[in-house]
Amino acid sequence: MFNKLVSFFILFAMVMTAIAQPRQTINFNEDWSFTLEDDLQFRRTDFSPVNWKKISLPHDWSIGFDFGEEYPAGNAGGALPGGVGWYRKTFPLSAKDKGSHYTLHFGGVYRYAEVWINGKYLGKNINGYLSFEHDLTSHLHYGNEENVIAVRVDNSLQPNSRWYTGSGIYRDVRLEKRSPIHLLRAETFITTPEVSADRSTLRVQTALNQAMSGKTGKLQLKLHDKNKKLIAEQTLAFSGSQFEEGLSLGRVDLWSPDSPTLYDLSISLLDSSDEVIDHLQYAVGFRHFHFDEHKGFFLNGQSFKLFGVCLHHDLGALGAAFNKSAAKRQLLIMKDMGVNAIRTAHNPPAEEFLDLCDELGFLVQNESYDMWAKRKNKFDYHIDFKEHHIADLISLVKRDRNHPSIFMWSIGNEIREQFDSTGIALTKNMAEVVKALDPTRPVTAALTETNFDKNFIAQAEALDVLGFNYKYFDYDKLPTEFKGYPLIASETTSALQTRGVYDPLQDTIQLWPASSKDKFVTNGNPDFTVSAYDNVAAYWGTSHERAWLEVKKRDFLGGIFVWTGFDYLGEPVPYPYPARSSYYGVVDLAGLPKDVYYMYQSEWTDTEVLHLLPHWNWKEGDLVDVWCYYNNADEVELFLNGRSLGRQSKTDDQLHAAWKVPFEAGELKAVKIKNGTTVQEVAKKTAGNPVDIVVDVEHERYAVDGATDLYFLTVSLVDEKGTIVPNSDVELSFIPQENITIVGTDNGYQADLNSLSNPKRNTYKGLAVGMVKKGDLDKAGKILIKTNIVEKEITIK
Ligand code: GAL
Repeated sequence: MFNKLVSFFILFAMVMTAIAQPRQTINFNEDWSFTLEDDLQFRRTDFSPVNWKKISLPHDWSIGFDFGEEYPAGNAGGALPGGVGWYRKTFPLSAKDKGSHYTLHFGGVYRYAEVWINGKYLGKNINGYLSFEHDLTSHLHYGNEENVIAVRVDNSLQPNSRWYTGSGIYRDVRLEKRSPIHLLRAETFITTPEVSADRSTLRVQTALNQAMSGKTGKLQLKLHDKNKKLIAEQTLAFSGSQFEEGLSLGRVDLWSPDSPTLYDLSISLLDSSDEVIDHLQYAVGFRHFHFDEHKGFFLNGQSFKLFGVCLHHDLGALGAAFNKSAAKRQLLIMKDMGVNAIRTAHNPPAEEFLDLCDELGFLVQNESYDMWAKRKNKFDYHIDFKEHHIADLISLVKRDRNHPSIFMWSIGNEIREQFDSTGIALTKNMAEVVKALDPTRPVTAALTETNFDKNFIAQAEALDVLGFNYKYFDYDKLPTEFKGYPLIASETTSALQTRGVYDPLQDTIQLWPASSKDKFVTNGNPDFTVSAYDNVAAYWGTSHERAWLEVKKRDFLGGIFVWTGFDYLGEPVPYPYPARSSYYGVVDLAGLPKDVYYMYQSEWTDTEVLHLLPHWNWKEGDLVDVWCYYNNADEVELFLNGRSLGRQSKTDDQLHAAWKVPFEAGELKAVKIKNGTTVQEVAKKTAGNPVDIVVDVEHERYAVDGATDLYFLTVSLVDEKGTIVPNSDVELSFIPQENITIVGTDNGYQADLNSLSNPKRNTYKGLAVGMVKKGDLDKAGKILIKTNIVEKEITIK
């Protein structure tokens, strides 16, 4: 009897706490201490990290270093160090907080995060790209004694990746405070079994961490539209721990990349007196899609070519440290280019990245692995694969399956097992695991095999959609070899460019390196640059135009995923060190578009495009290749200092107009002509000496939440008429004056060895970008940008 009374009392107390605060998600990114020393005593509560650095998360310690040749990750890994780092944070809980349930959620730690709370070991996380959490409840102190979290992060086994990974707690950390009985996010699955013009249904499956123990609870579902209008509501009694229910809806606005309409679903757990015990919220999008083996991809019943790019997870000068406004900037730059789909190469992204894709409208192919049991690097995930790959796949699908943006799961990129029989069982097993958790999306893999032997065919049969990387010369074989299978060009291109560099054009596409016999290009440029005419590619790839044309003209290919949307840290094919970041991006590492960006924009959007290249600073007599990307017109007329150099147009096989022009200083002008009328003009002028800088501050468009927002300062070096000077770069110093922190600087040059955290940066081909943050959001920030020719104070409102 006494026991019963006690347990009744405890339950009562728990419910009371729960009533007061259904669920609190507490941002745990601030007030951490960090060291690069390694000592197990750092886990102890009585240890005091006095000399440690004060930092906030997300945090990537590698990016703060100077680039170096000596690091074992090599330049393929970004020429930056790994190592071991420790993090500590203390926090109080008051006596009133007792009775709640607490979990500590990590969005991603690279790598091998071991976590302690108050000296008690909670475990080790293996996969550096997945979220994980620890239940803190039974280890917490309330009242005077503070709680201590200690995290050891070990990225010392190198090399462990083909690209830059970053090191540390590089995504958000949050503390979830919930009622002891609560809804489980991982067990919640929201689907839209029926989506049509006038009728849709929403199905919600969820579960509690424990049964309602003989009592009946209620679950309340509420769906609001974007104007916060309630459009459906349902409250149902249930017992046990599982719940499944549907909402029937009338007409809803569909989600698509062009119109990413989201609804807001709230799921509340109520007690018998209708008080909220727990609560979850989701963005829901109604869309339906299918693949057709002959006609490609269809979204909401309409044929829809996937204009996709592959993206790695780093954010340039921020390294791997996730920042939502920097990710939003990446995505919006992609959106303006016409991109409607993203392949997260070759690992799961931050959860907040997917929130952005839901909101901004991108179809996402979420990829799990770059290798299975057969390695690509000595210390990569292959060492953990056998033991962890299924659990990690489950954790990925459960984490991400409620995002409307996700439309496919990729279980691997260019997996070595595809070449022999060992891949068959693995492919089948992983595809089954994914589909058991999410029957609504196809499973794919990015394949490279072209010997379609029985092993490969057996693997392919276990997939729903076949993705082929490169191999465009084999595209036409695919529909007959794989009858009945939807097909996509899961990775293409691998063209190479440095923004703003123009070498005289060769007649054929230059392959750098030329073949598998060479590791590096043998006749490259001494300054480690690659020409930005779309005419150089790695030997397994081709130019942007060519790759896109191959996909464009084949309806059976659902779409293209260009390697890559942005340059990324690491994999600087075709050069050895000092090159340390990739040349593949349509946009450089600083976020500045290369010329070919406008080729895509002219093909993939209705934006009026007229883009002329190169710059107009050459030597008298140089014979210069002039290209023009344009759309919505019949032809382009080129004028040099007022004289017509003739009209040119694109063809079915060439997506730019081209001229050869003997250089003469002055003005080169392109005029876009439609039905005989001029519709747009653009000019390149010969720049004089640099005399000034122009600073463009971008913020509003990339703002997310105020607190973590970055301000992007694009600095152009100009002559007295305001023309960008492409050939006389200067050093910029970004000097904070008031209420400003410099987060990073960059100029997109792949062999700039100056640390990306350094507030000094040379312009490159006339441009550079500074990324800064304000302290007090309500006050203006002031920053001085100094060069040897001019200095400017910029006020950031
Ligand atoms: C692909 C690979 C990518 C990247 C690319 C570079 O084969 O999937 O991760 O390495 O080549 O061209």
